[in-house]
Amino acid sequence: MDEYVTVKGTVLKKNYLNYLDKFYEFPVRDGDVWICGIPKSGTTWTQEMVWMIMNNLDTEGAKEDIHIRVPFVELTWVTPFNENSPEHVRDSLSFIKKKYEKGPVCLKTHLPWVLLPRDIQENLKKPKIIYVVRNPKDAIVSMFHWQKMLTGSEESMEKFCESYIQDQQCYMPYWSHVLGFWEQRNKPNVMFLRYEEMIKDLPGMIRKMANFLEKPMSDAQVEKLVNHLNFNNMKKNRAVNNEDLIERMRKSRGLEMIETNHMRLGKMGSHKEEMTPELIKKVEKWTEDHIKGTDFVVS
Ligand code: A3P
Repeated sequence: MDEYVTVKGTVLKKNYLNYLDKFYEFPVRDGDVWICGIPKSGTTWTQEMVWMIMNNLDTEGAKEDIHIRVPFVELTWVTPFNENSPEHVRDSLSFIKKKYEKGPVCLKTHLPWVLLPRDIQENLKKPKIIYVVRNPKDAIVSMFHWQKMLTGSEESMEKFCESYIQDQQCYMPYWSHVLGFWEQRNKPNVMFLRYEEMIKDLPGMIRKMANFLEKPMSDAQVEKLVNHLNFNNMKKNRAVNNEDLIERMRKSRGLEMIETNHMRLGKMGSHKEEMTPELIKKVEKWTEDHIKGTDFVVS
């Protein structure tokens, strides 16, 4: 169903053309937080962490849907929701502007650096920008399952993987995306973080993030947040597990609801159980070819 176009080297769904100019001119503010990353890199986990830190661990407020608290800019551009859909999925940009009235805003986008608003690209405004990256093999596996769940696709892992590394998916090429933000990582308003670091040392990552957001936390607060962000707690938390979104997306394609949610496995290295050794080799060669000559290291 999806038709793709390439804009500034990035593969996007055709609908995006209706919004990109408006987004380029979108007014950006210094005090806000932008969460960026390739889909399935841990962006939702990062959204929840950031929102909780920015909002002094307001567990009551955190019961509101993550897409309302941390709007996903292009959600409305991707999915053919109808006029009965909630306001934040019908017109995310107006929704974010309305949130501006209430104070600092956290938002999420999967768009690459070169498609962010002019105010950011030209350094006219300096919101905090957080980029989350994940081992590409695990991001591919996660995306494979996500697409299967949303579309009912029966494509094999081999075929899916081939289309991913051939840049035939939205937001590709993967490496221009990652390296585009990697180049920005030394700016004081940019934080480049890795899914694997969150898995290995969540308390350490929370402290690092809290310092970056200028919201230092006590040990007791860190402990409380570690518990809130724990995989099993996130999985059963309807405010973040996207059960409603998945249902709407499956319904829009005429698919039945199934018992599943956004938090699938939450592990490092799941590609080892899902990709053949040949496929792993292929993705590793693709990786080497793209990071050669850069100082980027895969986690
Ligand atoms: P898996 O499909 O490998 O389980 P995104 O939010 O960018 O779409 O990323 C989704 C991935 O992040 C999924 O990976 C999901 O399970 C994982 N994830 C989300 N919350 C997590 C958490 N609290 N702990 C570990 N992984 C988490």
